[in-house]
Amino acid sequence: MHRSPFRPDLLEGKVALVTGGGSGIGLGIARGLMQYGAKAAILGRKEDRLREAAQLLSDQTGQACIAAPADVREPAQVERAIDEALSRHGRLDIVVNAAAGNFLAPAAALSYNGFRTVMEIDAQGTYNVCKAAFEKSLREHVGNVINISATLHYGATPMQAHACAAKAAVDALTRALALEWGGLGIRVNGIAPGLIANTEGFRRLVAAGAKEKLEKRIPIGRFGRIEEIASIAVFLASDISSLIHGATIVADGGAWLDRGELALLAEE
Ligand code: COA
Repeated sequence: MHRSPFRPDLLEGKVALVTGGGSGIGLGIARGLMQYGAKAAILGRKEDRLREAAQLLSDQTGQACIAAPADVREPAQVERAIDEALSRHGRLDIVVNAAAGNFLAPAAALSYNGFRTVMEIDAQGTYNVCKAAFEKSLREHVGNVINISATLHYGATPMQAHACAAKAAVDALTRALALEWGGLGIRVNGIAPGLIANTEGFRRLVAAGAKEKLEKRIPIGRFGRIEEIASIAVFLASDISSLIHGATIVADGGAWLDRGELALLAEE
């Protein structure tokens, strides 16, 4: 593990809302923000898992964390969860949209509802949380929104038409909100992780037999780690990144740059 260049009190006094905070990248980001002094509320669908995660995060970081159960597709549930976070912590400074849904399916085999479900969780869900957080707290002071995206839609990815469309919408939303909210002191940015080890996405999307080949195709020679995505979120949530606004930071070890030429050249 590298030694962190960040001050331990970097985010002291800040309150973060992290959707998808019960597991994977969302959980890692919540932990990262809390390690630098933020209090947190984690929002997700699975109440038991969320409560366990909130307890774990508090134990590990010494910061307060509450579980705020909600489905990001349901505005009323999102509003109720944000109200809970506000009644406990008083304000929201950092909003991280990490909730996502995905599975592998060829476009022609997807049901209409399958496509809609992923669009609703990723794109509509991100909007729902941004809008409710803005109305209930963010608009009153400076703040930070961080939307977790992907690199699937740079070019295109097979069996991911639904996720490509949804993540492209998330990136567009990041830019549109940045344009409208920058003047209020609310920075809006994104992170586009590549394949990150030990996540549900990785387990769902990467066939066991393909792991080694895929890893070899990443220019830095390995998959990403959850902590690496968390560090970028800490950077974006802090004033260190004060000029970065409307950007989606790609964090994939250069993976999306390779269109197969490296392997072809190596064969020659
Ligand atoms: N292949 C094709 N279609 C699928 C599918 C799969 N593997 N998994 C779900 N769907 C379809 C369902 O068939 C359904 O469509 P239908 O009503 O026409 O049959 C639609 O998607 C909704 O699925 P459902 O399971 O009812 O919805 P849900 O809200 O409970 O689940 C998902 C949402 C689909 C994203 C589910 O996979 C999930 O909850 N995943 C956990 C989170 C996750 O995906 N994390 C990974 C992040 S990369």
